[in-house]
Amino acid sequence: MSRLVWGSLGVLLGAVGLGVYWSRDGFDPESIRGATVVITGCSTGIGEEMAYQYARLGAKILITARRENRLKEVVAKAMSLGAQEAHYVAGDMGKAEDCERTIQTAREKFGRLDYLVLNHVGSSLGSVSKLAENLKFWEDNPDMDFFVDFLNVNLISYVRLASLALPLLKEGGGHIVVMSSFGGRIPTMYFSYGNTVKFALDGFFSCLRAELKKADRNVSVTIAMLGLVHTPNVEAVMKVSIQKREEKTGDEAALAMAAPLDQTAQAVIRGGATRAREIYYPFYSWPISNIRRLPAFLEDYLVLNVLAP
Ligand SMILES: NC(=O)c1ccc[n+]([C@@H]2O[C@H](COP(=O)([O-])OP(=O)(O)OC[C@H]3O[C@@H](n4cnc5c(N)ncnc54)[C@H](OP(=O)(O)O)[C@@H]3O)[C@@H](O)[C@H]2O)c1
Ligand SMILES: *[C@@H]1O[C@H](CO)[C@@H](O)[C@H](O)[C@H]1NC(C)=O
Repeated sequence: MSRLVWGSLGVLLGAVGLGVYWSRDGFDPESIRGATVVITGCSTGIGEEMAYQYARLGAKILITARRENRLKEVVAKAMSLGAQEAHYVAGDMGKAEDCERTIQTAREKFGRLDYLVLNHVGSSLGSVSKLAENLKFWEDNPDMDFFVDFLNVNLISYVRLASLALPLLKEGGGHIVVMSSFGGRIPTMYFSYGNTVKFALDGFFSCLRAELKKADRNVSVTIAMLGLVHTPNVEAVMKVSIQKREEKTGDEAALAMAAPLDQTAQAVIRGGATRAREIYYPFYSWPISNIRRLPAFLEDYLVLNVLAP
């Protein structure tokens, strides 16, 4: 009897200890006050929410996206929430000159850079959410023009922006934050183009992290492996597909399980600030990211039957 009690107590204490250890990431909100932050893709979604949260913490932000009217509204709200400064560059990150203009503006306005948050996602050839409404296997629509453009907007631009910003980041011990998803670790059917980008970002930015470490540069690289997040675009796509289908359960359940926007943005900001190599949010993103470690038949079962939209 008493052995059972002591045993349970030991397990409980162990669990509590582990919980405390995991939740203590050493994040100091004050470290963001006055910090200079460039965030891409801030006219909606997670980028917009991160802009507001950095603003509340008293950062100086520079945001980008293509829609200037939205950026003006986000800048105004960020100032009202407490940003020390808020600027925008309206531009297409698929264009080299717009990437250059973004980092040049950061240099002029701030003189240094503490955070580069690479977040935008899009295509010049129509909205990605439209694509997600009409899911197709790659073999049914092997659109190479789309593929090349998608890599340019979402992969090449991330590398370009980081390369341009590195001199500024090196000066003050800066942070690079790269938005990714579990689709950067495992196959997710219908999104081969998106997986290509996220796998490649992991490859490039993991190499960059290693090289920066070896060269004793005080610049951290955080890769955020996210699950489904409840953004306005995700909600719109899910609503359309729920309306189209007879059996509604799948998409409705997915939307209900999607991570809240505010907590996702907070998890990414904390991860960047504490120089975490990777963050997984919500928690199930970690086991899903690792299913390729399972025997192949289990991996196939999960990829083909459980994770498919
Ligand atoms: N939402 C999710 O469930 C989820 C899950 C895992 C990972 N993620 C990742 O999290 C990040 C943010 O996702 P999100 O869902 O918040 O995206 P979102 O709501 O679709 O917003 C994308 C942002 O990128 C901007 N953008 C698109 N194309 C652009 C271009 N060519 N040049 C400059 N800006 C461009 C858009 O603004 P304009 O249209 O005004 O240019 C918009 O502000 C992405 O890296 C995504 O892969 C999201
Ligand atoms: C690295 O940069 C941070 C600022 O982000 C600074 O607090 C820290 O002291 C720096 N570390 C080294 C070893 O220079």
